[in-house]
Amino acid sequence: MYKKIFTATLIMYSLLGTNSIAQTKPDVIKIGVILPLTGAFSTTGRQSEAGMRLYMAQHGNKIAGKEIELVIKDDGSVADASRRIAQEMVTQDKVAVLAGFGITPAALAAAPIATRSKTPMVVTAAATSSITEASPFVVRTGFTLPQVTTGIAAWAPKNGIKTAVSLVADYGPGGDAEKFFKQIFESNGGKVISQLRAPVRNPDYAPFLQRVREDKPDAVFVFLPAGQGAIFMKQFTERGLDKAGIRLIATGDVTDDELLNGMGDAVLGVITSHHYSVAHPSALNQKFVKSFESANPGLRPNFMAVGAYDGMHLIYNAVEKTKGAVGPELLEAMKGQAFESPRGMIKIDPKTRDVVQDVYIRRAERVASMNNEIYNVELSSIPAVADPGKTQK
Ligand code: PHB
Repeated sequence: MYKKIFTATLIMYSLLGTNSIAQTKPDVIKIGVILPLTGAFSTTGRQSEAGMRLYMAQHGNKIAGKEIELVIKDDGSVADASRRIAQEMVTQDKVAVLAGFGITPAALAAAPIATRSKTPMVVTAAATSSITEASPFVVRTGFTLPQVTTGIAAWAPKNGIKTAVSLVADYGPGGDAEKFFKQIFESNGGKVISQLRAPVRNPDYAPFLQRVREDKPDAVFVFLPAGQGAIFMKQFTERGLDKAGIRLIATGDVTDDELLNGMGDAVLGVITSHHYSVAHPSALNQKFVKSFESANPGLRPNFMAVGAYDGMHLIYNAVEKTKGAVGPELLEAMKGQAFESPRGMIKIDPKTRDVVQDVYIRRAERVASMNNEIYNVELSSIPAVADPGKTQK
């Protein structure tokens, strides 16, 4: 009798054992990628997945004797789903890294899980400054809103724009953009007349554009998350703001490369600051764009694809450095890394775990040598910008 139970228990344990060995095969490193593949932010999901897959197609799936495996799941940009999926990935899939995160609420929802499970969490898209402070396990390869906003805020008063209205999406990154635009614009001699916030989901910009018209500023400064720029541009021209002599300045999220050419002539001349343009003239970027477009016909990469591509680069470098060790050791190996990205050189600040990068001032132009399509043409650059949100609260 006892012997029977003992044998049954042994069988059970060995079955469980085999099962857990199958999940955590020592020679496989799983990366749990959480992205909005459906819903309002699906352009970000699609771009990010394509960026990660391209990196793997170019560099193989073996590193330090380990096989890298992507486990990609759709959170539909609903934060509760991001949290649940992160939990499942850590406990059931036994992922060594969490990665992706299309919008700020998704990243903030998953951060406590990264902390509890000591899992490095590579944020490739979401861009509110405070995300890296939500967990000591967060490392960011995308950008932050303060980082890309200060460039255009300082440029504007030096280029004839003395008064502005800001219009931002009403959530984390919009708050960052609004705050840093005002601070830098005004310390350079400009005046923000009013600060408007549009809803993040299903936005109708018409009432806000009406208000901008009435305020008659020299320019309207806009931040909207990737994917919403085309609708905004349409409403901007429909309401005749371009003809009313109100200039449009923005972060590059609004003139996102995926949608830019489809915006038509109305977007020509719009000045933005951002960290990535498809037209960035480096050899590495030209190779990146060519490979991306041949793997994804008809799709131009945008800054989300680059953040994700670089996120994989960071993970590969770190796995190589630890010779396959994961957990806190892998996190340490991510800190301080520096390498060339399609956007230019980037570095992970070892103290803040945020990305340090050049920010460019760009103008939307038709480029004769590139099929006469519209690109964000870089005019000047501000070197090695660290997130200003970390030093000024
Ligand atoms: C964000 O939610 O953090 C976010 C999303 C898209 C952007 C920028 C920020 O383009």
